Amino acid sequence: MQQSLALWLASTIAATSACTLPTAPALSNNITEGFSLQVQNASNPDIHNHFLNIWDWGGGDQHLFVSPAGNSTNELQLIDGVITLSSAFWDPPRRAVINGEYEPLDNTTKMFMTERGDPRAIWDVVYGCNPDTDEVQVQLAFKSRDTELGGRMGVRPFNGNYDFRWKGPGTSVNDPNRPWTGVTLAVVYNRTLS
Ligand SMILES: *[C@@H]1O[C@H](CO)[C@@H](O)[C@H](O)[C@H]1NC(C)=O
Ligand SMILES: *[C@@H]1O[C@H](CO)[C@@H](O)[C@H](O)[C@H]1NC(C)=O
Ligand SMILES: *[C@@H]1O[C@H](CO)[C@@H](O)[C@H](O)[C@H]1NC(C)=O
Ligand SMILES: *[C@@H]1O[C@H](CO)[C@@H](O)[C@H](O)[C@H]1NC(C)=O
Ligand SMILES: *[C@@H]1O[C@H](CO)[C@@H](O)[C@H](O)[C@H]1NC(C)=O
Repeated sequence: MQQSLALWLASTIAATSACTLPTAPALSNNITEGFSLQVQNASNPDIHNHFLNIWDWGGGDQHLFVSPAGNSTNELQLIDGVITLSSAFWDPPRRAVINGEYEPLDNTTKMFMTERGDPRAIWDVVYGCNPDTDEVQVQLAFKSRDTELGGRMGVRPFNGNYDFRWKGPGTSVNDPNRPWTGVTLAVVYNRTLS
């Protein structure tokens, strides 16, 4: 009885507590140390705690998939709020853009990485709480597609994998056959790639 009450209390606290977000140091929209991006949404176990992977799509482009599809990377940087495979490792640099494969059924557009000048995905860097451990984490908060403010980043089934899709602000539609899941992207340093 006592033990089950304690367990119940512990799980209730774990489910409802939220870590205290630091107010300092201020977070820069430039992150020069290479990182990986962890995909988080505990309501979708297919993708929760997986990583953003890159897939050589030809023509210099790297398309983005939820792991295990594609190649793991810990070489991402953030430059002026743009996820970049920078000239530190990549020549020419590839930047994450939102363009192409527009889908009217759910009003989403694909995010991928290219050396070309498509409209970039721009992020702020914020503190958040890890949904599993309640530890403070640094995460990306979607800001704009080029100059179009707002919308959200999510993932959607694609040929047995999941790709990354931006949903425009004010979107009222969803595709029940290919449900889109909004995600948090957490910055993870020094991840060992298998
Ligand atoms: C971010 O990096 C870019 C490119 O090196 C630089 O032009 C910009 O001034 C930097 N911004 C900040 C806030 O440090
Ligand atoms: C993974 O990286 C290797 C080495 O660069 C490359 O040969 C291969 O095509 C990449 N695979 C994918 C799916 O991008
Ligand atoms: C799709 O997104 C745009 C913003 O990018 C918005 O103006 C439009 O209303 C959305 N369309 C639907 C059908 O939700
Ligand atoms: C996670 O997915 C659920 C169900 O689709 C959604 O209600 C929630 O807003 C998502 N969380 C984030 C952080 O987008
Ligand atoms: C990652 O590892 C390097 C080398 O050990 C270390 O200098 C750096 O501080 C680490 N980064 C973080 C964010 O822990």
